[in-house]
Amino acid sequence: MTAITDFVSYEAQGSVGVVTVNNPPVNALSVGVRAGIKGGVEAAIADDSVSAVVLACEGRTFIAGADITEFGKPPMEPGLHEVIGVIESSSKPVVAAIHGTALGGGLETALGCHYRVANGTAKVGLPEVKLGLLPGAGGTQRLPRVVGIPMALTMIAGGNPIGAKKALEVGLISEIIEGDLTEGAIAFAKKVVAEGRPLVKISDQNDKLEEAKSNPAIFDDFRKSIARKSRNFEAPENCIKAVEGSVNLPFAEGLKRERELFMELMQGEQSKAQQYFFFSERLANKIPDVPKDTPLIDINTAGIVGAGTMGGGIAMNFLQAGIPVTIVETTQEALDKGIGIIEANYAATVSKGRMKQEAMDKCMSLLTGTTSLEDLADVDIVIEAIFENMDVKKEIFGKLDAICKDGAILATNTSTLDIDEIGEATKRPEYVIGLHFFSPANVMKLLEEVRTKKTSATVMATCMALAKRIGKVPAMVGVCDGFVGNRMLAQRGEQANKLILEGAKLEDVDRVLFDFGMPMGPFAMSDLAGNDVGWRIRQGRGVTSPVADAICELGRFGQKTGDGYYHYEKGSRTPQPDPIVEDIIVKAARDAGINRREVSDEEILKRCIYPMINEAAKILEEGIAARASDIDVIWVYGYGWPIYRGGPLRYADHIGLENIYNDLLKFKEEHGDEWTPAPLLEKLAKEGKGFKDL
Ligand SMILES: NC(=O)c1ccc[n+]([C@@H]2O[C@H](COP(=O)([O-])OP(=O)(O)OC[C@H]3O[C@@H](n4cnc5c(N)ncnc54)[C@H](O)[C@@H]3O)[C@@H](O)[C@H]2O)c1
Repeated sequence: MTAITDFVSYEAQGSVGVVTVNNPPVNALSVGVRAGIKGGVEAAIADDSVSAVVLACEGRTFIAGADITEFGKPPMEPGLHEVIGVIESSSKPVVAAIHGTALGGGLETALGCHYRVANGTAKVGLPEVKLGLLPGAGGTQRLPRVVGIPMALTMIAGGNPIGAKKALEVGLISEIIEGDLTEGAIAFAKKVVAEGRPLVKISDQNDKLEEAKSNPAIFDDFRKSIARKSRNFEAPENCIKAVEGSVNLPFAEGLKRERELFMELMQGEQSKAQQYFFFSERLANKIPDVPKDTPLIDINTAGIVGAGTMGGGIAMNFLQAGIPVTIVETTQEALDKGIGIIEANYAATVSKGRMKQEAMDKCMSLLTGTTSLEDLADVDIVIEAIFENMDVKKEIFGKLDAICKDGAILATNTSTLDIDEIGEATKRPEYVIGLHFFSPANVMKLLEEVRTKKTSATVMATCMALAKRIGKVPAMVGVCDGFVGNRMLAQRGEQANKLILEGAKLEDVDRVLFDFGMPMGPFAMSDLAGNDVGWRIRQGRGVTSPVADAICELGRFGQKTGDGYYHYEKGSRTPQPDPIVEDIIVKAARDAGINRREVSDEEILKRCIYPMINEAAKILEEGIAARASDIDVIWVYGYGWPIYRGGPLRYADHIGLENIYNDLLKFKEEHGDEWTPAPLLEKLAKEGKGFKDL
């Protein structure tokens, strides 16, 4: 075996030269790998003892993509285009042997090969769009030539990988190899030579492009089909344009077009924000003061108290991860209702073809209902999801402490209560933690985990690992009113309510935030969640909000009652402005002595978003969140903050903290002390720094 570079070796195995990449953990295409593949293939071409070449990878995967740490740095030779060019123009057939995942540059490299084979569990894809980019090494030109335009558009503009079986079906691979992959690939390469099969250069193949030439509407139809999901994103459109280039331009020109469109994205703010977010999400998994090797508690069973809106959704996450759940309710009737809703939710997913009946049956078989808290004696973790009432929660935690085995974690899904106080209702406060799921709990990705002053490192590390197991993205925060997400949201809500009194139309407030990229504005969101939720909280705290209270007093709880801030036709979720609400607002403004005025879109945006950023600075100062990027993760996954803006604090850095600071001072002059800049924000602004510098 000859080492070509530190990461790639070459060896002749009989009549086949094998080029092997070994760059753990995922064989990313760093410069040493690129140089090694080029050198390895050149060595095979020069080696008279071999008549074919296999490109294979060591470790758990084929090349899983570009080396993202090289992004933004000066390019290092050889570039991937050059490497792929050497492979494609090889005089001996080159076969890619794919296991694990061939993603991005990895798949583009494989597309430079004359043939591709894979084992049955392999996956292939071009996920660059998820980082705000497009495949820039020929992927947008070669993939359509192999799988046709519709499939290429789906894979490139959607970014999701496909499995080996599908890849075989669409002609992306030639064979699924059973048994040893490299052996199988060598045998395949020998067969290619023995049968005198052609050297398939994908760049020369144009048959699959014909369909789009005769039906150019294919592209606009595709645009329409992804319009809702890709709203405001730049990368999907550039992906589509690049694939259009594959049809309308000769291959070499298509590559140039791909390059231009790639550079446009690479230099844009969206891809920078999306790459920032990629790292932020991974960083959020690490809790600075919890060592990596902290021992974990085995979680094999879970108990859930309360089978209401949240309890049912939380249960579904565990069931889908194969973890048996015992769910407790106060009465048989409430229990039957809760379990009935879980079953109906699964049945709806099955009927849409998004879940197999067997999978649903398996989930339901893992669920046990009971009205006796004692049945939680042996579970490894309990998640409490009953009414938001401190006295009742403390009583339940006292009981759970007595019933549950030693070492069981006791978690609460509270959104507003002091979890330190809940922990003190037990003799095991170090085992008490907040696991704050977002509604609908079976859908929303965020799990805001809340540590108390006493939560142990083991419990925190266990719950972070557990989040991943049940398909959630966790972020660890500390105890404060509303924790991180809702504490910032409250700031936005307060301003939204003031804005409508001052003269902004509520549909304009919602439109500005929707256009900014949020899934919906604050009033539409309140109608969806139920206006009564906030009303009850305000009543409990003895606070008022004139418009919101008046709306609830009329029974306008939102979508569920057909009326809220908006009117909803029966069976429709489309909000329609309602003159009754406008009257309520005008009256409330008059009662408060407010002179209504025109409010600009710019003011709406700044007044809704800047107080959130200011609050986040306070949260960081108090140590409630460990990193600015954790707050961004919370907002993207918990509230649908547009990922192409990275999160509120990444957005703040983009606007510039000095600009935000100056606007806060201006608003303070106009509206009072609530606009006083947080000391941390002031300090960073004056030093010309951003949250990124913390
Ligand atoms: N709804 C949301 O959007 C949301 C989001 C995040 C967190 N939360 C929090 O989740 C918790 C539950 O909220 P929800 O919206 O699911 O409420 P819900 O009213 O839909 O459900 C609560 C359920 O708990 C049951 N229950 C009450 N006392 C019980 C007891 N002693 N033993 C067993 N069951 C009992 C009730 O019968 C009811 O079915 C609250 O703490 C809430 O703040 C709610």
